[in-house]
Amino acid sequence: MDHLVHPDVEQMLCEFKLHEEDLQVLMERIQAEMERGLHLETNEEASVKMLPTYVRSTPDGSEVGDFLALDLGGTNFRVMLVKVGEDLDGQWRVETKHKMYSIPEDAMTGTAEMLFDYIAECISDYLDQQNMKHKKLPLGFTFSFPVRHEDIDKGILLNWTKGFKASGAEGNNVVGLLRDAIKRRGDFEMDVVAMVNDTVATMISCYYEDHRCEVGMIVGTGCNACYMEEMCNVELVEGEEGRMCVNTEWGAFGDTGELEDFRLEYDRVVDEGSLNPGQQLYEKMIGGKYMGELVRLVLIKMVNENLAFGGEASEKLKTRGSFETQFVSQIEGDSSDFKQTCNILKTLNLQSTLGDCHAVRLACESVSTRAAAMCGAGLAGVLNRMHKNRGDDILKITVGVDGSVYKLHPFFKERFHATVRKLTPRCDITFITSEEGSGRGAALISAVAYKMACLIGH
Ligand code: BGC
Repeated sequence: MDHLVHPDVEQMLCEFKLHEEDLQVLMERIQAEMERGLHLETNEEASVKMLPTYVRSTPDGSEVGDFLALDLGGTNFRVMLVKVGEDLDGQWRVETKHKMYSIPEDAMTGTAEMLFDYIAECISDYLDQQNMKHKKLPLGFTFSFPVRHEDIDKGILLNWTKGFKASGAEGNNVVGLLRDAIKRRGDFEMDVVAMVNDTVATMISCYYEDHRCEVGMIVGTGCNACYMEEMCNVELVEGEEGRMCVNTEWGAFGDTGELEDFRLEYDRVVDEGSLNPGQQLYEKMIGGKYMGELVRLVLIKMVNENLAFGGEASEKLKTRGSFETQFVSQIEGDSSDFKQTCNILKTLNLQSTLGDCHAVRLACESVSTRAAAMCGAGLAGVLNRMHKNRGDDILKITVGVDGSVYKLHPFFKERFHATVRKLTPRCDITFITSEEGSGRGAALISAVAYKMACLIGH
């Protein structure tokens, strides 16, 4: 521990530490919820919903051609054109061009119609730009929220997460909402063939590089994972053969009380101030939407205890959301004698001493290290389950990962990997990151779904 940090500060941050026994407990609890989520009679009450995705282990080849991919789930909405083709090695694909649209606050929290009209408007704009308005393209939709699927192109939104709140969407078929919005415009046509979660899209896009990739994980604004489960354990879907990808929606772990002995006062304040109190409690301890705010609350507490900034907080620091999650990465990565840290604190109207800088860095480390460890316990739970399912001595597996916290934080990855490996002695794990996985994965699975639909004659 940093000897330049006041012992009282260290003392205060102690409660963020998780010991190996804690992680073991967390892992076992998350596994118990996963089990409950898979069973028909306990699914309803389980916090981890284990949603079947209708993405199966035995793709029957795929169609070639142009596919449009949409990606909705963070602060931006993306549209891209992906050319899927075949060469001697199997698949290849070329992403033509993507365009990013920021989602205005009122579209996120207004009505579902407003949100989907905005999405349709963005697609229209993109097609104009690409000169492709006349073509009826097959479309893959990455929609990064909990969806209860009935098929790969049909599913209802269970609840919004991550600051989305558009009314009239929960409980409705998401693909239907998109199709209706496209119809309302009437200036282009689309054939929506698949809707997938971002974890699933990430897994699929990584699968094309590494056929051992049977797990997808996101640690970005939100946090979630999917993996290939034995069909015989997926009680919500008929059939026993092969495997199906299950979207765990583990972000909701804790929503039925399983995290109460781990949650701190800061976690409770973050939750109470959110758009979905009482929901996504595990995600709120890990995801980028909340990490900066957790640090801010810790700093406020330090000020109140007269342990930082001369006991005086600026108005800015007192403002919710002012401490951005990217500051956590920048401060922990600061190798310039706290120059960058001081600058960040200045933007919050805080004059800092050397002691303050050390304290702020330790606050960031405490919050992000706990996040990495908690998330590691979750993934270890998934991997140990797969190991048991498959009965091999050692499970050789690849995990495809995406998300800003995982990719941009200077130490999250290493700390996370270390926790996972400590808890999975019988797994041989390779981690790969995906580039543009959300879009590419949606296009690739659409190519598979399209082929199936053509074969069945839809
Ligand atoms: C959503 C998941 C998503 C994750 C990462 C969570 O809030 O519920 O569906 O995969 O964020 O984007």
